[in-house]
Amino acid sequence: MKLPRPTDITSLAKLILSDDCKSICILTGAGVSTNSGIPDFRSPGGMYDSLKPDLITATPNQRRMMEVDPTYVVEKGMFFANAFPYLEVRRPFILGTRDHKWKATIAHRFVELLHTKTGKLTRLYTQNIDGLNRQCTDLPAEKIVNVHGSLSEVACEGCGADMDFDEFCSSVKSKIKDIYKIDPDAPKESSPIKCTNCNKPLVKPRTVLFGGSLPSEFFEKCEEDLPSADLLIVAGTSLVVSPANSLVHQVSEDTVRVIVNNQPVGMELGIDYNKDNELSRDFFAQGECDKVFLDLVEELGWIDDLQAKTHQLPLKSQDLLKLKMSLNKKTD
Ligand code: OAD
Repeated sequence: MKLPRPTDITSLAKLILSDDCKSICILTGAGVSTNSGIPDFRSPGGMYDSLKPDLITATPNQRRMMEVDPTYVVEKGMFFANAFPYLEVRRPFILGTRDHKWKATIAHRFVELLHTKTGKLTRLYTQNIDGLNRQCTDLPAEKIVNVHGSLSEVACEGCGADMDFDEFCSSVKSKIKDIYKIDPDAPKESSPIKCTNCNKPLVKPRTVLFGGSLPSEFFEKCEEDLPSADLLIVAGTSLVVSPANSLVHQVSEDTVRVIVNNQPVGMELGIDYNKDNELSRDFFAQGECDKVFLDLVEELGWIDDLQAKTHQLPLKSQDLLKLKMSLNKKTD
């Protein structure tokens, strides 16, 4: 059944609550986590934009490759030839994850609330490896597909043997140099972290490298979930990486698609930004992810539930919530 296309946050909230909307899938990217302090990949100041190949332990040729295309830092061939670019670039992210440095944002809490308040969340597909959705403990693990793996599970990319996360982090701390110059205790030079099973220096978090395979769960769940989804919400992703971006095509032609982003994305995939096209099923909720989801939570009548989690939010998200509450008081 074709549902009405929302034209604003109020009509999106109505659609979510309507009996005709039974199944909702969500695809998220790095933009939902930036308010927690984790940079995205492709924005100015993002991981690829700020990459400095000169600081990385690599051959001149490998540095040139990363200069031309920064995604080489997380590419399978590069990792097998030299694990240091991945480990040096990811060092603060790995150690920050161990130290619980980042908190789930309003966008993450929205997903949790959608599940607990409506039971309509069929699946969250997240490209993020930060594990912030797992902080939302009312969202069951089986509702989440970690499309690109997870930072807190570690294994040898060569033989597949697992390694304990804390043990791995201790090795990262003592063996991998800090190219960001934030850790005075970091070694001056990097040395290999070897697998205790095969002795190769190929140990890393279980995250998907470019040229590597996605977890089979991704393909299984897509087939199971997407054809019958009534609503697909796509938040904080540039939609440039496949096959994650294929979700926008895998839903049926009647599925309403909502893009939450600070800029239009996915035009080349057929996302329609023409507001005047009456036949379109796409709605662009333009803005900062946390702000859009905060407005949506308010329209859905869940603001008290979100407020109860205020202290679990990162400071930026807390400030947004406080501002909204004080504005609401003034208009009461
Ligand atoms: P990108 O950095 O490519 O895209 C993030 C998108 O979110 C951009 O369109 C930003 O404009 C937008 N954005 C950032 N912060 C935002 C905010 N606070 N509010 C609203 N929009 C915001 O990140 P992803 O799309 O997640 O894969 O990247 C996809 C994949 O590329 C990653 O999973 C990773 C990377 O290479 C692998 O490493 C395999």
